[in-house]
Amino acid sequence: MKLEHTLICSRCEREESVEGTPGVCPECGAPLLARYPLDRVGARWKPKDLAGRGWDMWRYREVMPVAREEEPISLGEGGTPLLEFEPLAREAGVAKLLVKEEGLNPTGSFKARGMSAAVTRAAAGGAKGFVTPSAGNAAGALSAYGARAGIPVRVYMPADTPPVIIAECRALGANVRLIDGLITDCGVEARAFAADSGYFDVSTLREPYRVEGKKTMGYELCEQLGWRIPDAILYPTGGGTGIIGMWKAFAELEALGWIEAGRRPRMYVVQSAGCAPIVRAWEAGAESADRWVGAETLAAGLRVPAALGDFLILRALRESGGAAVAVTDTELMRASRRLRHHGLPACPEGGATLAGLHAFRAEEHIGPEDRVVLFNTGAWLKYLV
Ligand SMILES: Cc1ncc(COP(=O)(O)O)c(C=O)c1O
Repeated sequence: MKLEHTLICSRCEREESVEGTPGVCPECGAPLLARYPLDRVGARWKPKDLAGRGWDMWRYREVMPVAREEEPISLGEGGTPLLEFEPLAREAGVAKLLVKEEGLNPTGSFKARGMSAAVTRAAAGGAKGFVTPSAGNAAGALSAYGARAGIPVRVYMPADTPPVIIAECRALGANVRLIDGLITDCGVEARAFAADSGYFDVSTLREPYRVEGKKTMGYELCEQLGWRIPDAILYPTGGGTGIIGMWKAFAELEALGWIEAGRRPRMYVVQSAGCAPIVRAWEAGAESADRWVGAETLAAGLRVPAALGDFLILRALRESGGAAVAVTDTELMRASRRLRHHGLPACPEGGATLAGLHAFRAEEHIGPEDRVVLFNTGAWLKYLV
């Protein structure tokens, strides 16, 4: 089976083999990222070639980590709606407000995209089991894709993860371990278990392919806009694979010649005031983020005190001319209610992006002419108690 991409370390640029189940760079421990021969791919692959393909994330398979003849482990992820909310645009004072509704993915969150790609590669590479620490949604997604692949799954989550998500993982057959602590504590347990058992560790950015699944949000968004890009993208940021993946997508789309050169969107990070390591690093002008002590927020997916890809998130903000802001739990819950009252079942993390938009408008990072895209990363129903 021939894979077209290579794996390159995001820090030291060392090339790693795609064989088996690659993890992080063995030299410096930084995330590995997939690199495709985009000149060659772009010469033979054009937007019109997408016509007639399924409306899911594998329609972009030429820039995905699968061999030509390979069937991905899929549950129909991607192909989510991009919805316009005129009243909310007027309220925020922007030209256009669109929401990418990721809650409609299998298992109700954008994590499905990343897990479909990661499980596809690791299953082909011979993984005998999967393990991940998770704030919740990644565990739900891994449980589903592991089951789809017929490979056992163990997940470590904070004990106060939304109960619906815990029930979902169990219902999908995963071995669920609840930890009195944060996702970082879960990570320690998951890595120890992986070392003992030989299960493959699918933690955020500790393997190269979840980013590849997440990047399809950027491809899809551009396709839905007729291969034009919006001015600003607001993303509720925890571990950061979404923002890193989309920034990678825009670079690839430019290299393919599918979007206008030199005109990529500005990327904006929104975090919760109770756990905002990236915002703090951004404000200090730092290139990496210190661990956040005492992380606490109702937006479970944003309760990530330390991110392995912190320097990649901050790089995307700098390169794109974006910014980062923290909103309080009261603001993000109120904004998620606001979205729901317009018919969008937004999760707290999705609400954070609307609250963030108001903050960025107030600080004039985002202007009245801007066409803005918010990401509702998960379904409201998963947060019911
Ligand atoms: C609903 C939701 N939104 C956002 C995030 C943060 O995503 P990322 O790790 O891509 O920054 C998570 C992560 O758990 C999540 O579950």
